[in-house]
Amino acid sequence: MPPRVTVMGTGHLGASHAACMAELGFDVLGVDSDEALVDSLSQAEPTFYEPGLKQLLRRGLDSGRLSFTTSYQRAADFGDVHFICVGTPTATGSNRADLSYLHACINSLGPLLARPCLVVGKSTVPVGTAADCARRLAELAPAGDGAELAWNPEFLREGRAVPDTLHPDRIVAGLRSERAEATLREIYARPVAEGTPFLVTDFATAELVKVAANAFLATKISFINAMSEVCDAAGADVTVLAAALGHDARIGSASLNPGLGFGGGCLPKDIRAFMARAGDLGAGQSLAFLREVDAINGRCRSRTVELASELVGGSFGGRRVGVLGAAFKPDCDDIRDSPALDVAEAVHRLGAQVTVYDPEAMDNARRHHPDLKYADSAMEAARDADVVLLLTEWQEFLDADPGVMAEVVTQRNVVDGRNALDPARWRTAGWNYRALGRH
Ligand code: UDX
Repeated sequence: MPPRVTVMGTGHLGASHAACMAELGFDVLGVDSDEALVDSLSQAEPTFYEPGLKQLLRRGLDSGRLSFTTSYQRAADFGDVHFICVGTPTATGSNRADLSYLHACINSLGPLLARPCLVVGKSTVPVGTAADCARRLAELAPAGDGAELAWNPEFLREGRAVPDTLHPDRIVAGLRSERAEATLREIYARPVAEGTPFLVTDFATAELVKVAANAFLATKISFINAMSEVCDAAGADVTVLAAALGHDARIGSASLNPGLGFGGGCLPKDIRAFMARAGDLGAGQSLAFLREVDAINGRCRSRTVELASELVGGSFGGRRVGVLGAAFKPDCDDIRDSPALDVAEAVHRLGAQVTVYDPEAMDNARRHHPDLKYADSAMEAARDADVVLLLTEWQEFLDADPGVMAEVVTQRNVVDGRNALDPARWRTAGWNYRALGRH
């Protein structure tokens, strides 16, 4: 009998993981304390936009392999493997990770674990957390040693959660026994058969792989954005520089796109929590450079505001600004720490009338930024604008016809915040095209 799987916490990570585990052929029970969330997932209605997830949920539910519940008791009775996918947001008033959802999960599930099982942490946590969780589980679980812990960080990207989960580029397993290894190998048999590397390690290394990967990606993005500042000073072109660097196989072109920088629910919070944890461990100096990575990233936002300001003559007072994009990146509706909305808000505070359009993130943006104006299309956001800001590189914006948009604006000024548009095409249509790190 294949192991039966539960997924504790059915947010973005958990809902995607549950649907993908069902797709891989396992019987899966998703568990969340939020009744409304459980109801909507039970009807294949995710509460966030993720390409392909709705269809996968539908297939899992229809096959009878996937269901959702609020009951920890049902989960404990059902599961041989319990994946923990709860959120670890930034704690109020500090940069540290708030582990209260994780602790609540262990404290609720632990006392119900009466038979042998493997509890597998996937949440992003400060190094040392897994060892604490293992100790707590041993105290709580009636199954004693039979209820074991493993740590198996998740590397999925929003907007690519389904392919990233079904075909991960590596599986990292923090383990303390051969039994735990055998169980996780059974769970991931399909991707491993496809050639995905399976790395076995201790808890601390597994926890660190996750935050180190995010710190590296953030550093790479800030590196190219620092080069963009130098290009601005020297009159060089950062997009050509990035392309030339990317051809070096040792460097690679992924996460090397210069522009407005990184946002979202992971990179910004994870590098700050990593710095805080390293400080606690007496290794603060080792990660001091991440403060600079964060600062460069913040400057991308202020430089974009300055560029837009230049285009409208130095002052936003009485100006109209059309903003294309609200999500922190395309193919998602997530606006957490969104660079696009940060810039939109800054320009609004400087006196502009800002109108925003995003293909998927409108509801979230409206709810959290009610002071901004919203339009139903890119063309309506651009109507009467003195400057148009492309801040999230959705395909529909890249496909927009600059000639048609030119007809609706007051002035043909465009800031390409993601270096994603074709400057020649926009200039030919009469636009004054500007982007960071280019002249
Ligand atoms: C990231 C990691 O990629 C993923 O492995 C981890 O599990 C969670 O954090 P995600 O936040 O979904 O995933 O997005 P990612 O695609 O990495 O982009 C993060 C931010 O960086 C976005 O705001 C994006 O616009 C920006 N970015 C990305 C750049 O500015 N330049 C790039 O070249 C790449």
